[in-house]
Amino acid sequence: MADSMSGMKRSHRCAEVTAQMAGQTVTLMGWVNKRRNLGSLIFVDLRDRSGLIQLVFDEDTIGTAGYEKAGTLRNEFVIAVNGTVQPREGAVNENLATGSIEIKVQELRILSEALTPPFHIEEGIQTKDELRLKYRYLDLRRPDLQKMIMFRSKVTKSIRDFMYSEGFLEIETPMLCKSTPEGARDYLVPSRVHPGNFYALPQSPQIYKQLLMCSGYDRYFQLARCFRDEDLRADRQPEFTQVDMEFSFADQNTVMELNERLIAHVWKDCLGIDVKLPIPRMTWQEAMDRYGSDKPDTRFGMELINISDVVKDCGFSVFKSAIENGGSVRCINAQGQVEMPRKKIDALVEYVKGQGAKGLAYLGLNADGTYKSSFAKFMTQDEIKAIVEKTGAKIGDLLFFAADTDKTVFASLGALRLHLGDMMGIIDKDKFNFLWVTEFPLLEYSEEQGRYVAMHHPFTMPNEEDLPLLKTEPWKARANAYDIVLNGVELGGGSERIYNPEIQEQMFEAIGFTVEQAHERFGFLLDAFKYGVPPHAGLAYGLDRVVMLMTGAESIRDVIAFPKVKDASCLMTGAPGEVDDKQLEELALAITAAADSEVSQ
Ligand code: AMO
Ligand code: AMP
Repeated sequence: MADSMSGMKRSHRCAEVTAQMAGQTVTLMGWVNKRRNLGSLIFVDLRDRSGLIQLVFDEDTIGTAGYEKAGTLRNEFVIAVNGTVQPREGAVNENLATGSIEIKVQELRILSEALTPPFHIEEGIQTKDELRLKYRYLDLRRPDLQKMIMFRSKVTKSIRDFMYSEGFLEIETPMLCKSTPEGARDYLVPSRVHPGNFYALPQSPQIYKQLLMCSGYDRYFQLARCFRDEDLRADRQPEFTQVDMEFSFADQNTVMELNERLIAHVWKDCLGIDVKLPIPRMTWQEAMDRYGSDKPDTRFGMELINISDVVKDCGFSVFKSAIENGGSVRCINAQGQVEMPRKKIDALVEYVKGQGAKGLAYLGLNADGTYKSSFAKFMTQDEIKAIVEKTGAKIGDLLFFAADTDKTVFASLGALRLHLGDMMGIIDKDKFNFLWVTEFPLLEYSEEQGRYVAMHHPFTMPNEEDLPLLKTEPWKARANAYDIVLNGVELGGGSERIYNPEIQEQMFEAIGFTVEQAHERFGFLLDAFKYGVPPHAGLAYGLDRVVMLMTGAESIRDVIAFPKVKDASCLMTGAPGEVDDKQLEELALAITAAADSEVSQ
């Protein structure tokens, strides 16, 4: 039987005990990290979320029964001790904050025994992810993960402090909603009371925060849980947290200016790092042209070069025809890489094919003045020279070319640039390069739906200059929408909102919504706007991504206490799971045979 804690009260966390406290009596509680028997002494490293401290048991101090009890301690037992702080008799442990002291224990209680854990609880263990996630509650005991989770809490507080100091109100919005207009698939919740009807979990609080502006709460923020049923990646989870905000009587400059100060505050507060303000701005078009990405990693160069004008009449049909078909030919320069073995180049070709490219041509400048190339044989010397001149390539450089529609060229070279940057080790991992990407296109074509859809969401304000385009060539219109990007990751996004009914109608028309359809989905918002709506704008960050980048974590999973895996399941709880027939009945739901066979496969 375990001992009771009664009459004992924890006085400090382990790592809060300092050398200055020598001679004091303390009461500590925590987990046995390690036990060593050394002759007549037993040493135990005691662990809690603050760190470790060494306990010493000697028979003279604790008595025979206590000493024998200490001998039964195993890793992960939860214990309570009373003892005296003293300088270490043995060698000082420089790696430990409490490395110069120890606790001579006078009383030991075993509060809880523990099975041998499936992996060792220590920093930097190499254990399979599946096992760690199945026993997440044990993994969360590891100091590196605890640091992440505690850091996240610090960031959260820092954000709240700043937002409150700037006059924002923290307001919660519902989890059981009607579908929100973000682009992903909704998670649905069946209604028992309204059989056949479903709530949607919010993809973001977008509509609610706009309604709050209508209601006069001119500065709102919330740490909002959001749910999106989409393919998961290293920076995506099916449920995640947004730092969501909305401003009344504000344009994008107000939003950006305040957010620059928010970022500077949080980085200083939590990392002690000064972020240089203002954060640079780049239009979406420039970002695509220079980096092939709407979230450029500006920690290194290797920018895209458009060589369409010099190859439009060249002898290489791949290049020529791409331009004839309305596309472009662009390249990037992997400086000094001409010696790259053929095998590696082939692997890069395969890599860009995975991004939708048809191929990847290359041209290297050998030291002896010859070329190493997949297409030089189709070109005259002058044509090759023109390319070399246009790109400014030097002896030793290796150029990679993509010829296709702009969309495919950007996607393939944008991805290749990041891949090469990593491969060549030219990305400075200590840098925090923030960037605003502005003037996003208002619309984008959805192959899946066969129509234009709002790139951000349908309430995003078009650029004033481009308003006439809405009636003629809406796909050319730019939006007053912006993203905040850090080291090639989209941290957050936002926009000015439409508050004028005529513009809203034009927008719905451009994305192929009839007035009736628009009313069916967003009627309450459109109605609300008839009763006096302030101009408003906002932004939302992915908090998980913010913390991931601040901590240098490799995956968003490392900064979420209980994350899901790639197929959106939780390895610890087994969610999602089947439910009782009775529950289904109450909801007037039936599982189809197709779903049943999928489950059993
Ligand atoms: P958006 O859809 O760009 O904008 O989302 C804002 C930010 O949320 C983060 N994010 C995610 N993080 C983890 N996992 C995901 N699946 C995921 N999806 C998005 C990103 C992203 O930049 N309502 C608008 C904001 C606004 O206009 O005010 C919105 O949700 O970091
Ligand atoms: P091919 O004539 O198809 O053998 O192609 C010659 C070279 O051009 C090879 O290196 C291909 O990888 C490359 N290539 C083919 N299609 C494209 C493309 N769309 N863009 C760039 N390079 C391509």
